[in-house]
Amino acid sequence: MIEKIKELEKEISDILSQVTEIDQVEKIRIDYLGKKGKITSMLKSLGSLELENRKKAGALLNKIKNTYMEKINNLKENLISSMQNEMMKKEWVDVSLSSNTEFIGHIHPITTMRYEVEDFFKSMGFMIADGPWLEDDYHNFEALNIPLDHPARDMQDTFWTEDGRLLRTHTSCVQIRVMGKYSPPIRAIAPGRVFRYESTDASHENTFNQVEGLMIDKGISVSHLIYTMKTLLSHVFKKDIKVRLRPGYFPFVEPGFELDFQCLFCGGEGCSVCKHTGWVELMPCGLVHPNVLKHGNIDPDEYSGFAFGLGLDRLVMMRYGINDIRYFNNPDIRFLRQF
Ligand code: DAH
Repeated sequence: MIEKIKELEKEISDILSQVTEIDQVEKIRIDYLGKKGKITSMLKSLGSLELENRKKAGALLNKIKNTYMEKINNLKENLISSMQNEMMKKEWVDVSLSSNTEFIGHIHPITTMRYEVEDFFKSMGFMIADGPWLEDDYHNFEALNIPLDHPARDMQDTFWTEDGRLLRTHTSCVQIRVMGKYSPPIRAIAPGRVFRYESTDASHENTFNQVEGLMIDKGISVSHLIYTMKTLLSHVFKKDIKVRLRPGYFPFVEPGFELDFQCLFCGGEGCSVCKHTGWVELMPCGLVHPNVLKHGNIDPDEYSGFAFGLGLDRLVMMRYGINDIRYFNNPDIRFLRQF
C-alpha cells in the first residue's frame, strides 16, 4: 500500500510540474483531491487494512493530501498573478502621453454665419442668388453706374485677366444678373466670395465674403431697409439692436448710406471697440440708383428698391471678437479649431 501511495504522490507531483494553465490545475485538483479523486478514493479504501498498516498509510495519505492541497492553491495563485502581470504589461497606458485624438473637421465660422444670414432672409421671402467669380466689366462696373472714366473705379482695386475680364470686386454685380432674370417684385440676397487687388492688413483682405441684398417693388423706401437690417442684426446677435444711417457715397445707390449699429460691448456708452463713439460701422447700403434699375430693364418711375453689401467676415469678427481678418484665410488650423 505504501508503495502505491508513493507512486501516486510521484504521479501528482509530475503532472503538477508541467502545468501552465489555471484550468489544468483545477482539473488535477478534481482528479486527485475531489470527492471521487484518486487520493480521496484511496483514503476511503484504507478501512480494509489492518490497524497498523491503516495508521501508517492513513498518516502518509493525509500528509500528501494536505501538502498537495496547499501546492495546488499556491500554484493557482501564482498562475493568476502571472496572468494579471501579463495583462497589465499588454494593456499598459502612459496617461502622461499627449492624446493622438483625430480631429474631425467642422464648418468654417464664416460659412456658419452665411447659413444663419441665409436662413433669416429665406424666412423673410428672399431668394438666394449666385453669380460667377470671374465677371465682366459690364456687370461689375458699367451696369452699376460706374462707367469707364468714373473715379469710383479706383475705390476697388481690381484683378484683371488678360482677356479683359476680372475677379468680381463685390457681390453687387449679382444685382444686375438677378434683375436680368426676374421682374419685380424682387427679394434676393447673393452671398459669395469677392476679390481685391490690394495689400492686406488687420482689416483688409484680398479675398473676403459679402452678402449682397436687393429688394425691388412699388413704394420701397429707406424704412424697409432699416427694418430689414435691424431685424437681421437682432437675429444674428440674439438681442435688440439699434441702428442708424449716415450719408455715404456709392455710384449704384441714391441716396447712399453707411449703416451703423449701437456698440454691443458698451451698449452705446463708448469703448475701445467702437472707438468711443458708441456706434460700429456695419455696411454700406442705399436706394437702388435709377440708372441701375434701367440697366436691369426695370422702370424707375414705377419701381424702387434698396440694396446693401454686408461684409460677412466683419460680422463674424464682431461676433467672436476677432481682431484680424487675415486669420480666416490663414492655414494655421489652430485658429479654426476654436469654433
Ligand atoms: N459693393 C460695395 C462694395 O463692395 C458695397 C455696397 C454699397 C453694396 C452700397 C450695396 C450698396 O448694395 O447699396 O464696396
